[in-house]
Amino acid sequence: MENNLFLSYSSQTDISHRKKFGQFFTPLVIAKFMARWLLANKHQNFLDPAFGLGIFVEQLEGFKDFKSLMAYEVDNHIYSFAKAHFSADYISLKNSDYLQDWGLGEIDAVICNPPYMKFQNFTEKDEILANIQKNLGIKVSGYTNTASAFLLKSVSELKEGGRLAYIMPFEFMNAGYGEAVKDYLLRSGEIEAFIQVDCEKEAFSEVVTSVGIILFHKKKNPNKDISFFAVKSLDELGHFEKIIPIRTVSRKLIQARDKWAKYFSKEEINLKFEHLVPLKSYGNFSRGIATGANSYFSFSESKVRQNNMPKSSLVPCITKSNQIKGAIFDQSDLNKLISLDSEIYLVNLESNSSSDDIKRYIAQGEKDGIHLRYLTKMRSPWYKLEKRKPSGLLFGVFSRNGYKVIRNTTEAVCLTCYHGFNLKADYSKYLDLLFFYLLSDAGNKIMQINMRKYGDGLDKFEPNDLNDSLVPSPEWFSSVDKIDIKAELEIIKGTGKISFSLNQIFEDLLK
Ligand SMILES: C[S@@+](CC[C@H](N)C(=O)[O-])C[C@H]1O[C@@H](n2cnc3c(N)ncnc32)[C@H](O)[C@@H]1O
Repeated sequence: MENNLFLSYSSQTDISHRKKFGQFFTPLVIAKFMARWLLANKHQNFLDPAFGLGIFVEQLEGFKDFKSLMAYEVDNHIYSFAKAHFSADYISLKNSDYLQDWGLGEIDAVICNPPYMKFQNFTEKDEILANIQKNLGIKVSGYTNTASAFLLKSVSELKEGGRLAYIMPFEFMNAGYGEAVKDYLLRSGEIEAFIQVDCEKEAFSEVVTSVGIILFHKKKNPNKDISFFAVKSLDELGHFEKIIPIRTVSRKLIQARDKWAKYFSKEEINLKFEHLVPLKSYGNFSRGIATGANSYFSFSESKVRQNNMPKSSLVPCITKSNQIKGAIFDQSDLNKLISLDSEIYLVNLESNSSSDDIKRYIAQGEKDGIHLRYLTKMRSPWYKLEKRKPSGLLFGVFSRNGYKVIRNTTEAVCLTCYHGFNLKADYSKYLDLLFFYLLSDAGNKIMQINMRKYGDGLDKFEPNDLNDSLVPSPEWFSSVDKIDIKAELEIIKGTGKISFSLNQIFEDLLK
């Protein structure tokens, strides 16, 4: 916000007037951060339900995707300041009560610092609550505050896929009235982040209650787990992607009726070390095949036909991370990729180098300078492939919010997008059990102890971090009730998760 506008407004306005309307202004860094998050999704048409002196539109303006802003401001006094300052035709600023204006239609993105006031003293309280009930189909308590009412209404107005960034007092997380708010958020989409602003005094010097930011994404079938962050200085918002959440709580386990404020403090993970051994006692992860020229060595069915490659030269191979969608990769998934003409083969030129077609392809590679690449020029012959056996357990090298582990039941090898597990001889019966453990909540918690970067925005996992991480010992596996492997695999195929009862069994590894 232009400092001048704020200065002239505050010099002409009594603090009691500002308090009456909940006029606490957003610091620039926070406004910038919220606008940036919304704009990352290329939204065009925005809503600011509590305009004040317009800090948000100032952050949105100038971005090429931003097209328009609809805004509300109930206070005539501040409205007249704002109106004189913001006259652009892409801003439609209404001098009216946001909570009383229903039927806005579907909004792309909402950005808001709502007024915080207790509802008890509101004359229009009953009407507002009745309208929320009518329009959202939920009953909210009279103890709800204006900020929560704003939030609920805005969530309901978002279109499918729309985003919302809200500054909120986090009081609703533990308060009784908050259950309806949490329930509505959970049902309406994905909470990308709750960010507690620990430097409240720096951020909101005039505010008494604990304040934070909600980043929310409207979605029909929400499934993302919920991350709780805390920032100690506003500068941290400038590189938020690198900030590790204090906790990420499983969406399946989080309940609206629970008090959520506890998730802002670190959970102590106490392990039963007597049941745990390093993963390397079962085998080890190693990186996938590095070709030095993936597009040259990778083949789809149509590329095979075009180049007349002999079948004997083709090795099924996962060439890209997104070729695997589920937690289990089986022959039908592989066949599907083949029929979709995905690049799902690697060509072994060396073992077929007497074929004329292969000779031609090698010559083509040399014409294109493939043999001069960093890795190929160190090999002899330059098209020699690294040797890898198909691995039954794959681990995604890059991942957001946790890790990606896959049970591969095919003969496909993989490129460097996955690390593959090489099981020691005689340990094959543990492969599925280790896979189940890695999918369990306890496994997720225990694994993060060894993986330094776990929880960062985009994680990169190194084979050695994985090999040193702790997994249940063979003795522990034989001490628990027999696990129905076939049934669990079926559940995972359908849901991506292990059964609730097996998940509970792994909890035994934690104190
Ligand atoms: C917390 S301030 C935020 C102002 C500005 N968006 C910012 O972030 O700096 C909330 C603003 O909402 C206005 N307001 C309060 N109740 C409102 C209502 N029912 N409808 C629309 N605006 C309201 C207040 O006058 C105040 O300007």
